[in-house]
Amino acid sequence: MRDSADAARVASPAALVIFGASGDLTTRKLMPALARLALRGGLPAGFGVVGVARTELDDDGFRQHVLAAAGGEAAASVWTELVSGFRYVAGDYDDPETFKRLEHVLEEMDTARGTAGNRLYYLATPPSTFPPIVAALGQCGLNRPARPDGFARIVVEKPFGRDLRTAMALDAAMHEVFDESQIYRIDHYLGKETVQNLLAFRFANTIFEPVWNRRYVDHIQITAAESEGVGRRGSFYEEAGALRDIVQNHVMQVLSIVLMEPPVSMDADGIRDEKVKALKAVEIPTPEEAVTDVVRARYVEGWVGGEEVRGYRQEEGVDPRSQIETFVALRLRVDDWRWAGVPIYIRAGKRLPKRVTEVAIEFKPVPHLPFRSWQAQGLEPNTLLLRIQPDEGITLRFGAKVPGPRFAVRSVSMEMLYGSAFPEQTADAYERLLLDALIGDQTLFIRSDEVMQAWRIVAPLLEAWENEAVVLARYPAGTWGPREADRLIEQDGRRWRNP
Ligand code: BG6
Repeated sequence: MRDSADAARVASPAALVIFGASGDLTTRKLMPALARLALRGGLPAGFGVVGVARTELDDDGFRQHVLAAAGGEAAASVWTELVSGFRYVAGDYDDPETFKRLEHVLEEMDTARGTAGNRLYYLATPPSTFPPIVAALGQCGLNRPARPDGFARIVVEKPFGRDLRTAMALDAAMHEVFDESQIYRIDHYLGKETVQNLLAFRFANTIFEPVWNRRYVDHIQITAAESEGVGRRGSFYEEAGALRDIVQNHVMQVLSIVLMEPPVSMDADGIRDEKVKALKAVEIPTPEEAVTDVVRARYVEGWVGGEEVRGYRQEEGVDPRSQIETFVALRLRVDDWRWAGVPIYIRAGKRLPKRVTEVAIEFKPVPHLPFRSWQAQGLEPNTLLLRIQPDEGITLRFGAKVPGPRFAVRSVSMEMLYGSAFPEQTADAYERLLLDALIGDQTLFIRSDEVMQAWRIVAPLLEAWENEAVVLARYPAGTWGPREADRLIEQDGRRWRNP
């Protein structure tokens, strides 16, 4: 979102070094995103990829692997030409030889592809490998640009630590080698158009700002539901669970944008300063609240979309006695001028009835309803729904007169759908974020203090769970979580929306 240098959003020449090049993320997300960028002409002349991984492959083997990964785009000549210059380095991440070979290949790539000594490293590896890779880059001097006017940046995938302590340790290890201005902590939710649109919606419109506060808002609900189970990522998920996998990062990022004050400017620090302030205002749950305001649960067998599916403990790579949650619901409070007294309800989980991520702002009732109760039977509170996915769009629910001789009021929807409002093709989140990292725009990447604040908010929950203070409830796959989640919100006289 920098406005001068990147008005045309063209990146400088660079070599993208992907650690974990034979892995799942590279295949499913990074290569298809690069292929689309290449087809749109979004990559600079002078661009190349060096894949690094433990898998024994040579350059050609890697190129074949990449072409197979990119899907439909693979056939395009612009992509096959680009891939023909990709290089591969096989080796262990804790072996200095791997990095010597990498250095050599990067020099060759500068000559062969004109990548100008600029480096963008991408850590698409398991988190335990982040520190050794970062340290090794530092030891060979690869953390500094190869030329005085060049750059060396590093993109780090989530999870950034397992808790506050490990996140701080990782941060310290990274800061020994890279400056904060070189570090791009990725959260792919920030690359979604609909998440960025939260900024546009809030700060480009006069009519919503006056009601965006405790005087008019009754409460906020954030739902991040997936119908899928853990699939083949069982062993990864066993280390994560819904709180670490979705809430600490994706949901906290969305929440910070919903709560934040208007930024002084739309540049990286202008926005991130306000996001972190918003997160600082979120009350850190007390040990008691970590028990009373939180529900965690695991799916058992059930039906999703007409298909019978197994329970979490029966999934591949999952411990049959696993204590990991696949669903979490919680209530948070915000201590600031704008939001004091407005509860935030969050629920996130796998194997729920459908895939939907949305933010619902539910407004307070009018001071006095001048209707008889039968007239207003179909009236619900005014609600603004910001739908992040799918059916991306915004819906405003308000009361209208039901046509006919009687005077009755019922809630109706006013709807904006991205698909129909904009003919433009939407870029995928990874496409957008890769381009931003190549350009050097950190706006949509998470700053160190934001990550830490998000961990501080969830820390008491993790602690309570470690001490087994919270029961792991169960819900049949294909339902909206356990009864306890309903009770959490119903005890406040409210209910979950049915998205
Ligand atoms: C990832 C999580 O960060 O986000 C996955 O690790 C989850 O478990 C995914 O499925 C959801 O992303 P999206 O873009 O499909 O909502």
